[in-house]
Amino acid sequence: MENVIEIKNLTKYYGSFFWKKPVPALHDLTLDIPIGAVFGFLGPNGAGKTTTIKLLMDLIKPSGGEASILGYPPDNVEIKKQIGFLPDEPVFSSYLSANEFLDICARLLGVPSRERKGRIAEVLSIVKMTKHAKAKLGGFSRGMVQRIGIAQAILNRPRLLILDEPLVGLDPHGRQELKDIILHQKAGGTSVFFCSHILSDVEKICDSLGILYEGNLLCAGNLDELLQDTGVRLHIKPEHDKIAKTLLSEASETVKLPDGGWELTFLNNKEVKQTLLGIKEQYKDAVIMIPAKENLEKFFFRKIADATRTN
Ligand SMILES: Nc1ncnc2c1ncn2[C@@H]1O[C@H](COP(=O)(O)OP(=O)(O)OP(=O)(O)O)[C@@H](O)[C@H]1O
Ligand SMILES: [Mg+2]
Repeated sequence: MENVIEIKNLTKYYGSFFWKKPVPALHDLTLDIPIGAVFGFLGPNGAGKTTTIKLLMDLIKPSGGEASILGYPPDNVEIKKQIGFLPDEPVFSSYLSANEFLDICARLLGVPSRERKGRIAEVLSIVKMTKHAKAKLGGFSRGMVQRIGIAQAILNRPRLLILDEPLVGLDPHGRQELKDIILHQKAGGTSVFFCSHILSDVEKICDSLGILYEGNLLCAGNLDELLQDTGVRLHIKPEHDKIAKTLLSEASETVKLPDGGWELTFLNNKEVKQTLLGIKEQYKDAVIMIPAKENLEKFFFRKIADATRTN
């Protein structure tokens, strides 16, 4: 099996009044996510991301189509034990301490009793909450609750992590830590499916992504392949300052590097490309040439604008 998630023609209508034409919250979604990938699911508010996650977690039933996780339908009990899940608005019993709450989760997940204590200490340390282990959840901030939510999601060492807006509520430090946690999970062989609005973070940790808009998938695929080549970027070593200075006026973006070198970006243009290739040929090791890519934010807004135009 190559895919951790396979979704075929998945459609969801929520209950609608008979005089209103029903609009699906999710329309005919077909998507495969390879094992080991970190997949980012993007889309504006109301696009259908949480609906998709709820269908994958068997919290709601589809109106049409189907999904499978590691080859099994979402209602399979055994497969549920292999998934770690963080809902979009985690609400935990406020009178329990972090330790007590995670102990209940561990019991529900069937973590053997001799391993429970160690496993709870391990996840609390991963989410940097060890010193709050005995404190009651009711006194936790939004970000602290989010960390406990992440701790319970990784408690069963899942094969698949499904996270709905995991970066919400975290401070910049917390966001960085969560990105590291996700990458660490990936390195340990866990696949990750998550949705987020924070495009710059998504760009840093995803291998692949999909964009959902008004229940329709606009595009999905490998991040590198989706982002357009917008031009060429040159890295010029410090000893070739002179070459850099002759090119500055042609560049769309110029960055002086800490070592005294330059990073110059040029937009796609045949003539400029020819000149740059000539320079690269002449100065070989002094100049590194790489394709410049559109950033995810630009790509996202371009896709949404295209979809709005064709609507
Ligand atoms: N329980 C429900 N009953 C009726 N309509 C619902 C229900 N839950 C969601 N919807 C509708 O389905 C659509 C998709 O909602 P969903 O929560 O999946 O969006 P989302 O992409 O997760 O948005 P956000 O980024 O705000 O979290 C929205 O139009 C929403 O109003
Ligand atoms: Mg949502």
